[in-house]
Amino acid sequence: MARSAGVALLGVTLTLLASSVAWAAWAQEISPALGHSAPAPAPQEPTSGATAAPVATPTPPPAAVEEMIERGAYLARIGGCNDCHTPHVRGPHGVEPDATRLLSGHPQDLALPAPKPPDGPWRMLTSESRTAFAGPWGVSYARNLTPDRETGIGS
Ligand code: HEC
Repeated sequence: MARSAGVALLGVTLTLLASSVAWAAWAQEISPALGHSAPAPAPQEPTSGATAAPVATPTPPPAAVEEMIERGAYLARIGGCNDCHTPHVRGPHGVEPDATRLLSGHPQDLALPAPKPPDGPWRMLTSESRTAFAGPWGVSYARNLTPDRETGIGS
């Protein structure tokens, strides 16, 4: 019991870590498309002479932020997050990730019919979008990992 609780806690920790990684990667990949440059550093607390309280959280220099974004993009890339969290479409080279919807999860307008999972030894079906997976457990839809507050993981 204690062991499974530990494993669950580890899973939650890894998921939280992974989502921040994916978020950073999304920000880096999508920013140029939106005409953004590197994220602006957090604003400094206003100071008023000698009585001002010291600023508790130092703002990382822009170079450090760039480095974190770079690292996040790398981890998301080697973690293969786009394989399931980016909708795939048919392109000139076959089915490929839709670069305009990186990490946005299963498209909400893509309603799929009820699956007929195979009766072993094959066990799982994947949608052509590669964002929905059906098996004996039912259907799982890859989540939107963008920082969108309503549909993503930004809240
Ligand atoms: C094999 C496919 C697959 C890959 C690869 C994958 N995911 Fe997922 N992910 C899923 C599915 C499916 C769900 C939804 C599970 C559910 O609804 O129970 C999910 C859920 C999540 C969630 C939960 C979101 C929430 O708040 O509910 C996070 C965070 C996440 N994935 C991050 C990642 C990151 C980061 C990577 C890359 C390191 C990654 N995933 C790689 C399929 C995948």
